[in-house]
Amino acid sequence: MTVTIVGSQLGDEGKGGVVDLWGDAVDVVARYQGGDNAGHTVVEDGTEYKLSLVPSGAVRGKVGVLGNGCVVNPSTLFEEIDDLRERGLDPDVRVARRAHVIFPYHRVLDGIEEDVKSDSDMKVGTTGRGIGPTYEDKAGRRGIRVADLLDSEGLREKLEYVVPQKQRLAEDVFGVETGEEFDIASLYEEYKSYGERLADEDMTVEAGQFLTDRIADGDDVMFEGAQGTLIDIDHGNYPYVTSSNPTAGGAATGTGLSPGIVGGGEIVGIVKAYLTRVGSGPLPTELGGVVGDTPGYDERGEGDNEDVAEYIREEGGEYGTVTGRPRRVGWLDMPMLRHSARTNGFTGLAVNHIDVLSDLDEVKVGHSYDLDGEEIYTVPATTERWSDCEPNFRTFDGWDDVNWSDVADEGYDAIPENARAYLEYVSDELDTDVYAVGVGPGREETVVLENPLE
Ligand code: GDP
Ligand code: IMO
Ligand code: MG
Repeated sequence: MTVTIVGSQLGDEGKGGVVDLWGDAVDVVARYQGGDNAGHTVVEDGTEYKLSLVPSGAVRGKVGVLGNGCVVNPSTLFEEIDDLRERGLDPDVRVARRAHVIFPYHRVLDGIEEDVKSDSDMKVGTTGRGIGPTYEDKAGRRGIRVADLLDSEGLREKLEYVVPQKQRLAEDVFGVETGEEFDIASLYEEYKSYGERLADEDMTVEAGQFLTDRIADGDDVMFEGAQGTLIDIDHGNYPYVTSSNPTAGGAATGTGLSPGIVGGGEIVGIVKAYLTRVGSGPLPTELGGVVGDTPGYDERGEGDNEDVAEYIREEGGEYGTVTGRPRRVGWLDMPMLRHSARTNGFTGLAVNHIDVLSDLDEVKVGHSYDLDGEEIYTVPATTERWSDCEPNFRTFDGWDDVNWSDVADEGYDAIPENARAYLEYVSDELDTDVYAVGVGPGREETVVLENPLE
């Protein structure tokens, strides 16, 4: 049995919490893409864990796998593992030998490119973790993989090939003076020692084989997506995307298991009951003025409904886990979710943050878009066309703030009626059952209608 957890929107939908909720019943939790750009929150008995690389199943003591589709910054990985150990957990993390490694020069190049783009509409607003440059090297067949850290001769040779190229790119193309991030000798020493620790702790695996063997032994596996469908490099709003495939297909290519295994299991779309976005790019249902530096979009929505945006941002604590940036806020966008449901083939939904919307007079949903006088129900293929879309809203009566812990104890019928109408609309439009409703950040603050593992 496998369950794939996928972000249906723009990231930060509450994937970590859902992995934690259902993770107790599985044996292995595997990440299949992304790197330490992710920030997944698990709240257990009031204790909050923010995880960027270690799979969220670690909080429940599950075996965690970073699949071949991930990009791994070993420095972050070991820091996170050490931190969790200090907090009394004992994370068992296996890393795919085929996964690519993030080096300090990738982070520098990520920052340089963002700086160069900063005066134009092209700035993505990345997390600055070197994600894009590392996937570029992977596709360019000059990347360094986890297995290479275990072979010191090979590691040196690969660094000697790639680092001078990166240095020339930074200095000659971008005109930026480089520092120790481009020093082959020190990179070699640092990353060789990461390789030694990976070997000492027996952490590396051929992920596809490892997971196949676990499944053959009867283990259940959960695939933990990072980011979300609309920032998928293929299915998102390019170029304001991350550089990997958070969509469900990525769970096969990013772990080495077949599409049949992933598709034969459940695929749960995680939906935030409204929208948030940390980086640049259009957001047709955006509320209020744009916060942070989002070039090219500062005219959209300025001043309009700022109070509602501010209310949701504060109630939901909508500040980036990785970067601390205030998140942009919008109403739920159904064309986006229809696109997401089609791309991922959701078998069920978890709708989070219903509590955050309480005490509003009314709650709106972008039901469709107007584009060139035509009503459309899904997202156009280009970002330029998407930013031309004007949402057609449906309005729902608001619901009161209630004791959400009691609601979680009592079950679905205890959810305020207007909120249930909202949930049922989403489920009907996507023709997909709601498996769970998040009514607070804690593990217990969830109303479970159906457990995909039972
Ligand atoms: P992820 O990246 O998808 O794992 O999500 P994040 O952890 O970045 O952001 C989700 C935030 O919302 C975290 O602070 C969660 O603890 C919190 N959260 C998750 N579900 C709910 C919910 O149903 N209600 C509320 N109020 N907070 C939630
Ligand atoms: P989780 O897993 C929300 C966004 C960045 C930027 C774009 C590219 O916590 O949901 P990158 O550093 O990946 O090259 O940045 O993607 N982004 C996320 N937004 N949640 C995330 O992860 C994100 N990871 C990247 O803000 O717009
Ligand atoms: Mg997050």
